[in-house]
Formats: sequence, structure tokens, C-alpha cells
Amino acid sequence: MVAPGAEYAAPQPLSAITLTEDERVISGIGEFDRVLGGGLVPGSVVLIGGDPGIGKSTLLLQSLSRLADQGKKVLYVSGEESIRQTKLRADRLGIVSADLYIQTETHLETIIETVSNMQPFTVVIDSIQTVFTSDLQSAPGTVSQVRESSGKLILFAKSRGVPVFLVGHMTKEGNIAGPRVLEHMVDTVLYFEGDRGHPYRILRAVKNRFGSTNEIGVFEMTGNGLDEVRSPSALFLAERPQNVAGSVVVGCMEGSRPLLVEVQVLASTTSFGMPRRTSLGIDPNRISLLIAVLEKKAGLSFFNQDIFVNVVGGIRIEEPAAGLGAAMALVSSFRNRPLDPKMVVFGEVGLAGEVRAISQAELRMKEALKMGFERCLMPANNLSRLSPDIADRAVGVDSIDQALELLE
Ligand code: TYD
Ligand code: MG
Repeated sequence: MVAPGAEYAAPQPLSAITLTEDERVISGIGEFDRVLGGGLVPGSVVLIGGDPGIGKSTLLLQSLSRLADQGKKVLYVSGEESIRQTKLRADRLGIVSADLYIQTETHLETIIETVSNMQPFTVVIDSIQTVFTSDLQSAPGTVSQVRESSGKLILFAKSRGVPVFLVGHMTKEGNIAGPRVLEHMVDTVLYFEGDRGHPYRILRAVKNRFGSTNEIGVFEMTGNGLDEVRSPSALFLAERPQNVAGSVVVGCMEGSRPLLVEVQVLASTTSFGMPRRTSLGIDPNRISLLIAVLEKKAGLSFFNQDIFVNVVGGIRIEEPAAGLGAAMALVSSFRNRPLDPKMVVFGEVGLAGEVRAISQAELRMKEALKMGFERCLMPANNLSRLSPDIADRAVGVDSIDQALELLE
């Protein structure tokens, strides 16, 4: 028995299945393609979330225009803005493509019918919260409407091989119920993040059936749209103060790409009661752990210190490899001793105060040298595998004690 409307797919021996190479299509916006896992996959459904006003519509309109420039017919369905508003935005972005179609529509069945007739290469639905299906009585934006409409769009995308982008407004905390319920249904979930006060925007994959979830794309919002930032390290280090205690440049990996970021710590004597501990950009639990290790293994006492940690540029680092750099920044501020401004730090700190080897030391180091740094403080266990031409720039340490000698 096959369910009504479904096709029967007989089991096949695994060895008999041959794979055709993914026919991915490059949009031409490199930072976007990388986060997608190397371009658009036919039939994939991608949810792009982010705070209102962060630049989701701008990013997608720009991407569609690049595809249209390649001669592909593409459709942008807007339920939020009028044709006129979208046209004004397109003018501001300098978009003139004849193959880019705009429609204002929120009725799902009408959208699907349009797409079936028009057969565009890809469709953007901006936003999924505005779409409704006539199968349900509830208002657009409710969990049931969002789920049902998306379900139908996903089925459509899969059966026709059309890549579909769904825009969803979400706050960082994800407390808008709507699009969160979609995360498990779609193939890829991207978040567009950034601080409204800063021009940088980071596109991050949090789920990707067709690529790595560690990749990020970095953009800058300008007067005429989003520009790709090809050298994010330069951007994040642009305003770094030199020779200031508490500032350390950390060599991180974001997916396949090395990235240098500045970690700043301010440690100051608590004026009353409980010390305050605040951390932006690094998990506060990781900071507590580092403080405990420094107290126990290096004999420092932070019990009367307020500690504020910040990663510059609104970026978030999750890698344990940032531990050594954060610990150095903590002690640098505490002792009021700047670290050599030409030094980059990476390494994982263990609970016994040991500095543990990390992956991709060579890539991190090359990025540091490329950006004009001269030395890298790193786990001693990583030294043996560095190429001989850069090995003399590495300072290897086995323990946190040994690293702290640089701040005496
Ligand atoms: P938008 O793409 O509308 O955000 P979202 O779809 O995520 O809500 O971007 C809105 C903001 O971006 C708005 O505050 C204006 C700004 N912006 C620029 O600074 N430059 C531009 O070229 C464009 C189109 C928008
Ligand atoms: Mg928008």
C-alpha cells in the first residue's frame, strides 16, 4: 500500500546507487556561497533568520540580482514591502537585471501557482511570517500557518528541484515562536547577525545538510548595499589599541577560514559586594573556568575583581582554542602589563593548567603573519608539525604558568 498521492520508492542496494556530482549554482556573492556550502543546491530550502532591519531583504535581493545577471530567471516574493519600496531598494543597490521578477503576494496557493507557471530558477519568500494557506483559518504568522505554509513550500521545492529561500524574522533569543519551528524542517538555517550600531554583518550557518555549519560570511552594510568583506581579520583588528593591557589578538578558525579577533578584558577591583563577571562573545562559563584555573594553578586571586570580557566587532567565539588568549588578556589586565602587540595567541587551556594542542596551528599562524604579526604564542605540542620556514616565529608553551612569564 502506498499513501494516496505518494510514489512508491522500492528499496535499492546501497552499492547500486551512483551519485551525480551536486549541481550547485554559484550566486557570485562569495561570502554567501561559502556559507551555503559552495552555492545553491537544487531543491534545497534555506531559512534565513535575523532581527528586523539587519539586512536580510538586502542580501537576498543582491544575491538574486547576481543570479539574474547570469541569465537565470528569478523571483522575489515580498509580503512585507510594496513593489514600489522594493524598486526603490533595487535602485539604491544599482540593480537593473531584466531577469529579476518581483511579486507582492502572501497567499501561498497563488505563490505556488505563479512559480509553477513561471518556472524560475529560484524563489525568495520574504517573509514566511506573512504567508498564509487557505487550508487553515488561523492568521498569517501563527505557528500553525508558518509550519503548514513552509511544509507545502518544502514539498514543492523538492518535487520541482527549485531552491527556495525563506526569510524569517527572529530575535537572538529566538523568542518569536514562528520560524524557530521550521529549523528541523528545512535543509539549511542561516542567521544574519550584527550590531545595528556597527556596519558589520555576519551570516552564520547553524544547520546545513549540504555543508559545514562552522562557516561564516562577513559583510559590511554601506550606503548602497552589502559589501563582502574578504579579509575579516583586517576589519576586526582595524581599531585595535596598541600596547594596552587587557587586549590580546586570538587566532581562531571559523570553518575553513582562519580569523584573527581581539579579545579585551577589563579587570578592576570590586567596589562593593559580589564581583561582577560579564562576558560578551565568549561563553561566561568558559571564563569562569579560566579564572578558576588561573587561581589554582597560577596563584592569582580574582575574588575581589570585577571582570568584563568582550570580543571586538560583535563576533562570537566558541572554540576552546581561544582559551589561552582569553587567559592572557585576563592576566594582562589584572597585572596591567600589555602583551607584545605583535603577538597572536591560540591554545586550549586544560583544568590542570596545561596548554593543549589544537587543530590547524599552521593556518592560524599564516594568517597572523599575513596580517603583520611577528610571533605566535601556541601549544608546544603543535610546534613539531609546523613548516620549517615559519617555525622560528612560534613560541611554544606547555602550561599556563609558562605562558604567563610573558606578562611579568
Ligand atoms: P533590510 O534588508 O530591509 O533588513 P531586513 O530585511 O533584515 O529587515 O535592511 C534594512 C536596513 O539596512 C535599513 O535600516 C537600511 C539599511 N540599508 C543600508 O544601510 N544600505 C542599503 O543599501 C540598504 C538597501 C539598506
Ligand atoms: Mg526585510
